[in-house]
This record gives sequence, structure tokens and C-alpha cells, in this order.
Amino acid sequence: MRSPIYWHPTIYTLFMRALCFGYYNERYQEVADLIPSNSSVLDVCCGDCKLFDYIKFKKVTYVGVDFNKVFVDVAKKRGLHVQQANVLIDNLPQADYIVMISSLYQFIPHHQQMIEKLLSVSKKAVIIRECVKSHSTSPNPLVSTVGKLLNNPGDGMKTKRFNKLTLKKALKPFKDKISHQTFAKNDIDYIVMIKP
Ligand SMILES: C[S@@+](CC[C@H](N)C(=O)[O-])C[C@H]1O[C@@H](n2cnc3c(N)ncnc32)[C@H](O)[C@@H]1O
Repeated sequence: MRSPIYWHPTIYTLFMRALCFGYYNERYQEVADLIPSNSSVLDVCCGDCKLFDYIKFKKVTYVGVDFNKVFVDVAKKRGLHVQQANVLIDNLPQADYIVMISSLYQFIPHHQQMIEKLLSVSKKAVIIRECVKSHSTSPNPLVSTVGKLLNNPGDGMKTKRFNKLTLKKALKPFKDKISHQTFAKNDIDYIVMIKP
């Protein structure tokens, strides 16, 4: 069953505000800062499309993609250009910047193919922000179980997460194309920019 946080974008937003308390704005702002004005942006696994609020002033062309119909319908009602698609099997539209926030873990063990797919539709760069110190991998069994239970977006529970080492390994084939990489200010997420 789809986890309650994925029942409606408002629930998702509230949950993320609580989970990311103290760095919620930075979560999007740090990605937005990497996107120049007048760019086209494809937000892959866009969720509640929160990124849009941080880049709309830059006159970007924003397209979101997510397989959650409720999320997509709500985004469309907001006037956003969002497509319902399964990014594992469906084709993605091209854009200058392809963004994936907190979503790469969902594609383990096919994460490298996913990065390649993102690169194939990117004209300028792929920007990935990924958590490397997840609640789901907490040594506290209660915290980790709750973390895992809250992580079924609709196609099964996602039990695997990256840590610093496994993400570094995942990015190794792309190392010559990485133009920017850094820990986010929260020291939990890693941000990487890969050129196509
Ligand atoms: C953890 S949320 C991240 C949402 C948003 N990027 C953010 O940072 O808040 C993961 C999102 O990925 C979407 N998703 C998961 N697997 C997907 C797939 N195969 N195709 C499209 N969307 C998918 C879910 O519906 C959910 O909205």
C-alpha cells in the first residue's frame, strides 16, 4: 500500500517540513542556486513540485514528472506543467537542467542506468541531491522501521539507501563529467552536478 505521505501533496509537504526542520528551505534553495535564469528544467520525481517555488522567479520553463496521479493532478490545478510518467520505463522530455531531489535511492540497483537516462535528455547538466544519512538506515531499529514504512511511493517499499561511500561508488562512472559536488549545508545530503 502507498505510504500515507504519498496520499496527497499537502501531507507530503507537511511531512517534509517536519522531517527537514531547520533546513527545509535550503533543501530546495541550494539546488535552485545551481540553475541559471531562463533555463528549461525537468524535475524528475517532482513530488509536490516544491522546487518550482524556488526557481519561478528565474523565468525558467519548468516541467515535472512523477508517477503519482494525485500529485500530478494537484500540480496541474496549480497551473504547473507536470506529466504523469514512470521514469523507469517512459521517455523523458529534454531540458537544459534535469533535477532529481531525494529520489535516486528509489532506483537502486538500477541507479546508474537512471543517471544515464537523465544525462541522455540533459542539454546542460543533471543535478542530483541525495540523502546519504537517511532515517531508514538509522541504527535505532524503531526509527529505521518507521523510515522504511513511510517509503512506499506506490510500487513497493524502498528499503535501500545510499551512504557517502555507496553514492561515491555509484558516481564513479561519471567522475570525469562531474562539474560540481559538495555536501549540502545540512551535512546529510550530497549535491552533484554532472555534465552530459
Ligand atoms: C521522496 S519523493 C521526492 C519528491 C521531491 N523530489 C522532493 O524532493 O520533495 C519521491 C517521489 O518520486 C516519485 N516516484 C517514485 N518512483 C517513481 C517512478 N518510477 N516514476 C516516477 N515517479 C516516481 C514518487 O511518486 C514521489 O513523488
